[in-house]
Amino acid sequence: MKINLRTFIKHSGKDFHNQSVNPPVVRASTIIFKNIGEIENTEKKYLKDPRSGNFNYGRQGTATTYALQRILKEMEECYKVYLTPTGFGAVFLAVLSVVEPGDEILVTDSVYSPTRLLTQDYLRKFDVKSIFYDPKNFDDLKNKISNKTKLIFVENPGSNTFEFQDLKKILSIAKKNKIYTAIDNTWGTPYLIKPIKLGFDMSIVSATKYYSGHSDVMGGTLAINKKVFKLVESTNRVTGLRLSPDDAYLILRGIRTLDVRMDKHHINALKVAKFLSKQKKVTKVYYPYKKNSQIYKLWKKYYSGASGLMGLRIKSKNKKSVKSFVNSLKLFGYGYSWGGFESLALYQSQRQLGARGYTNLNSDEHIIRLHIGLEDPSDIINDLKQALKKIK
Ligand SMILES: Cc1ncc(COP(=O)(O)O)c(C=O)c1O
Repeated sequence: MKINLRTFIKHSGKDFHNQSVNPPVVRASTIIFKNIGEIENTEKKYLKDPRSGNFNYGRQGTATTYALQRILKEMEECYKVYLTPTGFGAVFLAVLSVVEPGDEILVTDSVYSPTRLLTQDYLRKFDVKSIFYDPKNFDDLKNKISNKTKLIFVENPGSNTFEFQDLKKILSIAKKNKIYTAIDNTWGTPYLIKPIKLGFDMSIVSATKYYSGHSDVMGGTLAINKKVFKLVESTNRVTGLRLSPDDAYLILRGIRTLDVRMDKHHINALKVAKFLSKQKKVTKVYYPYKKNSQIYKLWKKYYSGASGLMGLRIKSKNKKSVKSFVNSLKLFGYGYSWGGFESLALYQSQRQLGARGYTNLNSDEHIIRLHIGLEDPSDIINDLKQALKKIK
């Protein structure tokens, strides 16, 4: 019987020999075998198909991490999913798997700032050069492709300013020029868009965010297609990246309700975005809320819904009063990360935005990142209403 994703994430990953609804947490460094022949057989099976769950050591995985890998493989509709201890670990694994000295990488200008640090700064010592392209301008990306371009690293939408790109155009030009493609899909997750099915070679999700959903665990996932399997598999073996079975358990538990939470994040965030768009001090709401806008059209073309993360652009010569707006919010926590059940707010300083070339922020403009949680949206709006009065 064919079932929908909503049903699948409730029922899969349960074929273990146990009576509980959830799989047990299997913690292991050593895996015990009955005899040498059994070890040899397991290793043979693993080498024949490293996706088969035949592990001989805890670093390769246990029944708990394997249960999570299987559910994600179906959700992503991909060849294999690698589990990493953080979302950033998955970014690292993806990039390091394909680049070699002398290569160039094209990276979305509004990429998550640690990804900028990795590509722009760290990789330089391995003679890998990163070039950042304007996510609002496909021609800019096109013009920056050279015969050295090995990878296009897309973050969609971009961090803080949430630009949506025309993904099929990027994939088509990458294919024509034999360039690998990776996408950071943390905002959407494969519940809203399936990048590997669309044609990306690698797709990253920080499981710290919506998969876990409760702000109490860190993890990352890298989904890949068959084309890059050998490259990623060999890199994964030498990185030592591994997700703990306890964290895998929590992420698996979070995924059971991913659909319900994401739907509600979208409903709440849309209400908040519409409210904010009518406020005088707010010059821009970075969220796909306005029908027929370019952002909306690109979002609609690829996504079946939206998450709860958005950005605001605020105009005020009085920076202190903008910070006071954020500080006056009573229902929002002030802190990093997002994707949990609760609302969060951050004032994004120039340092956090990174060395961007295409955001064009004037000195009297400020960017605030809001994560809209699962509270009653009328309470969130009332809270924003009272706090907005602080902006002068
Ligand atoms: C878009 C994006 N990608 C990747 C990451 C990294 O995830 P983690 O914090 O799990 O390392 C983050 C974290 O904020 C993020 O916002």
